[in-house]
Amino acid sequence: MQMTEEEFARIYIYLKRRYGIDMSHKKEIVKGRLENFVTNGGWDSFSAFMDAVQTDVTGQLEKRLLGMLTTNHTFFMREFEHFDFLQRVVLPELAKREAKSKDLGIWCGAASSGEEPYMLAMLIKDYFGLDHPNWDTKILATDVSPEILERAVKGVYSAEQLSNVPPKWRRHYFKALPDGQNYMVSDEIKREIYFRKFNLMDPFLFKRKFHIIFLRNVMIYFDAKTKQELIRKVYNSMEPGGYLFIGRTETIDRTVVPLHMIQPSIFRK
Ligand SMILES: C[S@@+](CC[C@H](N)C(=O)[O-])C[C@H]1O[C@@H](n2cnc3c(N)ncnc32)[C@H](O)[C@@H]1O
Repeated sequence: MQMTEEEFARIYIYLKRRYGIDMSHKKEIVKGRLENFVTNGGWDSFSAFMDAVQTDVTGQLEKRLLGMLTTNHTFFMREFEHFDFLQRVVLPELAKREAKSKDLGIWCGAASSGEEPYMLAMLIKDYFGLDHPNWDTKILATDVSPEILERAVKGVYSAEQLSNVPPKWRRHYFKALPDGQNYMVSDEIKREIYFRKFNLMDPFLFKRKFHIIFLRNVMIYFDAKTKQELIRKVYNSMEPGGYLFIGRTETIDRTVVPLHMIQPSIFRK
């Protein structure tokens, strides 16, 4: 099926306006990801498909579109240095500072299929050990794509996906499924996370400020202006002394917010 320049523009502008995702230079990828679905669905052009998306009151087609066009690549132990820093520096410091309230605000803002927030939950549970039940360290894990969040909530991963996870965590926090191929995150870890749909382009109306924010490998899909607006909202949602982690290949414009750089991808308010 042909994708005209007008059709491509309609799709990338739609995606950019609603979700900040800039695919204006990725025509082949956009076409490749949508083509089968559009053909099999019986639409005779990408315009007809976009008409259907924009008039579908159930929102199901938009959900599919987002599911196909967002890049959800993630994996357990990704950029483990961040988790190591959390354990060595951030948690001891916050545990001391919040010893009275025993309440930490933690947000994972591009949670994808759940590997990142589940790892955070495992690490935090291990860190506090026997004292963990006395703390509220529940993690808010959000993503814009409902399809990927459905997978995150299920928390089912193959043996291969778990191959990098330390054996201790595999033993404690996953249970083998009867199919003999897959593992599910244990309920005690699932209980530590609230998965919610949230678009980073929307106003941040969170009830609280966060001590720890993970916003890794999502800003790469946004243009500079979108990133600046986002980082302002993120800054305003951080507790003083709170930490922000971004992907190791990402950067933020610190002329817009007075964040201190601890390491190139770790910042402190
Ligand atoms: C490459 S994954 C990163 C996952 C994880 N943070 C990591 O570093 O492995 C990027 C995620 O950002 C999400 N995303 C893209 N645009 C978004 C937006 N406007 N609001 C919220 N999430 C968004 C995608 O759905 C995708 O799951």
